[in-house]
Amino acid sequence: MNGRVIAIDGPAGAGKSSVARAVAERLGWSFLDTGAMYRAVTFFALDHGIDLSDDESLEKVAVGLSISITERVVINGRDVTAEIRTPEVNSKVSSVAACSAIRRALVEQQRIFASEQAHGTVVEGRDITTVVFPDAEVKVFLTASLEERAKRRGDESAASVAARDEADASRVDSPLSVGEGVTILDTTNMPLDQVVDEVVACLRK
Ligand code: CDP
Repeated sequence: MNGRVIAIDGPAGAGKSSVARAVAERLGWSFLDTGAMYRAVTFFALDHGIDLSDDESLEKVAVGLSISITERVVINGRDVTAEIRTPEVNSKVSSVAACSAIRRALVEQQRIFASEQAHGTVVEGRDITTVVFPDAEVKVFLTASLEERAKRRGDESAASVAARDEADASRVDSPLSVGEGVTILDTTNMPLDQVVDEVVACLRK
């Protein structure tokens, strides 16, 4: 790993994207939303009529997969920024994310992305502190009460958020968990700025 990394994991709606984006902005670093990558693959597979319960079909999707994440999310040349936030993708993404071939392909792209950034990268997801960058300079697990997380999501019901959490924490490959040396931040009653301050402070420790 060449680039510096701040790794942030946590359940759905914990505020990972907002925090990671703001930390990156404050430090002049890049930001990588790995959830958007799993969402893009899910949209792509649905759009191509692929049976999401069939690992072999998903493995074929993983071959030659190319995803670019800047302001826009582009998969195999198609801009899917708007399409990846639908209720259908919300309900299917955890099952696609359980496929090891898909995970291998995306983890490789995440590591390449971070190694190519001039300064550092703030990376957020579910397995960033445990699998993708276990040696990151800063490792944080962001959480909040289910009620608060559903409120922050706004567009997704508490039941859907809870179902994704359950699937993400119980899968065999790279489940959501609190790894070694990770700082846990319960953000239920914390304003965004304070969370950002605490994450940046971890870097200076
Ligand atoms: O933003 P939110 O927390 O709702 O979810 P997301 O970060 O967009 O991630 C969507 C889904 O992708 C998660 O529910 C996981 O199933 C999967 N994911 C994953 O498995 N590993 C990651 N590193 C990031 C996301």
